[in-house]
Amino acid sequence: MILENRVKGERIYFRNLNLEDASKEYCSWLNDPKVNYYLETRKATVEDLKDYIKEKNKKEDCLFFGIFDIKDNTHIGNIKLEPIDFVEKKAELSLIIGNMNYWGKGIGTEATNLLVNLAFKKLNLLKVGLGVISENKRAIIVYKKAGFKVIKIEKNKMKHGSKFFDKVIMEIQKKENNMKFIKSKELLEEAKKIIPSAAQTYSKSYKYFVEGAAPAFLERGEKGHVWDVDGNEYIDFVLGLGPITIGYNNKEINEAIFEQLKYGISFSQPTILELKLAKKLIEIIPCAEMVKFLKNGSDATTAAIRLARAYTNRDIIACCGYHGYHDWYVGTRDKNVGIPNAIKNLTKTFRYNDIDTLKKLFDKYPNQISAVIIEPCQENGPRNNFLRELKKITNNEGAILIFDEVVSGFRISLGGAQEKFMVTPDLSTFGKGMGNGLAISALVGKAKIMKLIDQGAFISTTFGGETLSLAGALKTIEILERPNSFKHIIGLGDMWMSSIKSIIKDKQLENTIELCGLSPHCGIVFKNAGKLSDIDLKSVYQQTLIEERILSSGINNFCLEHTKQDIKKFINATEIALDVVKKAIEEDSTKGILKGRRIRPIFKRN
Ligand SMILES: Cc1ncc(COP(=O)(O)O)c(C=O)c1O
Repeated sequence: MILENRVKGERIYFRNLNLEDASKEYCSWLNDPKVNYYLETRKATVEDLKDYIKEKNKKEDCLFFGIFDIKDNTHIGNIKLEPIDFVEKKAELSLIIGNMNYWGKGIGTEATNLLVNLAFKKLNLLKVGLGVISENKRAIIVYKKAGFKVIKIEKNKMKHGSKFFDKVIMEIQKKENNMKFIKSKELLEEAKKIIPSAAQTYSKSYKYFVEGAAPAFLERGEKGHVWDVDGNEYIDFVLGLGPITIGYNNKEINEAIFEQLKYGISFSQPTILELKLAKKLIEIIPCAEMVKFLKNGSDATTAAIRLARAYTNRDIIACCGYHGYHDWYVGTRDKNVGIPNAIKNLTKTFRYNDIDTLKKLFDKYPNQISAVIIEPCQENGPRNNFLRELKKITNNEGAILIFDEVVSGFRISLGGAQEKFMVTPDLSTFGKGMGNGLAISALVGKAKIMKLIDQGAFISTTFGGETLSLAGALKTIEILERPNSFKHIIGLGDMWMSSIKSIIKDKQLENTIELCGLSPHCGIVFKNAGKLSDIDLKSVYQQTLIEERILSSGINNFCLEHTKQDIKKFINATEIALDVVKKAIEEDSTKGILKGRRIRPIFKRN
């Protein structure tokens, strides 16, 4: 059987052998008695190898691969499934690591894992078996490491030299997907009756997941992992929609919170923590000269807009991105019932990386635009000096530039996108990543504008100085400031991005799937394909990731306590999910593939 694409592992890849592969080196390791010690020594010639390759590639019940070094294409050995029984859904595996330079390095286990994975995921087999001579202890260890179990020993079944030895029969079975969402479903039915969307955040609602094939309630988290109410474990790349920058249940942050808890939570006057955290933000955020603490990102963006209007004495806002649920912004989206037209008419939108769309707004509303508010990191980041140009035009027109760094702050870099791209806005808003999950946000900016809070621009909340969040945020920032923290988080995102880029290319999915974002806030977006919409494909993708125990909403966040092993699992799972997406595209349908209700997006595309 011929498989067109290469099968890629970490250090090795497989491909079908062709006649040019029948080399002298291949012959020499195959004929080496140290290599074929437990096989019947065959004095194979190059011509024999060619015949063998031809025969194996032709057979429909055989998958015969060469194993190659990913770095320099050295032919290391061979691996084979034969016979493959597609009715009984089982196959027999055999392996030879011929090149002795690769012995003792775990290559056999990697190759076995890779082929078993392919047998289960691509060929839909349920069982892979093998037989090995009892004397070959090393091989038995390799297969055990790959998850094979000894199921029986056949006495005196294999001849080696003049003696007979036992044959060890081993087997690995595909794990049934035993994921159940029983409690999730029960709780969901109850919650639907008393909580709109059964969640406090639209994007965390069951509607944003494949209902019936995904959990609806989570119970606990530990480092980069979460558990749902049915006890299913996932590696989480949603991370609370961004807030978890360090990891769940972090000991140091917990201790900071517990310590403060002993003193009290909310007081009748400010605490020293407000001063400490304000000083810290001024130290790390380029535009911060003064600071005001709030609770949600929406609080901060709305406060910024009020200050801009107060400072410029103008009413119109130009925005680009998502800025929360308050009237001034949501009026621009399709879900805007309940917002007066007078307010809707005051906010205009422009497009990211398209400076002309902003220029047009300034032309259309001369001397009327008070603020340009933008999420500074969108798409794959700013192109053609976009942010610098934006600042120049905004300030020339007498408007205030606001960077909404609720997502990018404490995630793209400690001081946000303004630090990374070296463009300093007048005001800026932070939230999500600031307190590793604690409810805290901040409005920061130039003192001359921030001072208006004391001159009639009314911004005040009861819980802005709540101390547990302040103490937790201080500890979160302290951890993020450690030399290797951002290096690690960004490295994980880069690792995922570069692997997925080549997987998309290998699977020829470039027309339907795009990588987007900047590590460590990056992911994939789908386009429509045939009769299937982007949402159909995203649903298939998300469902498969959940089956592989990965929680992702398409765009991922990475945290300090994710490990490289977590990312490897995520890469494998993404590859499997993209295979299923490809199948849906080929069949032009999700029938028989999608096991629940497809995702219901919150906003229509603008
Ligand atoms: C860029 C941006 N700004 C503002 C907000 C609003 O933040 P919150 O939901 O905390 O009010 C969000 C939320 O997702 C956001 O992504």
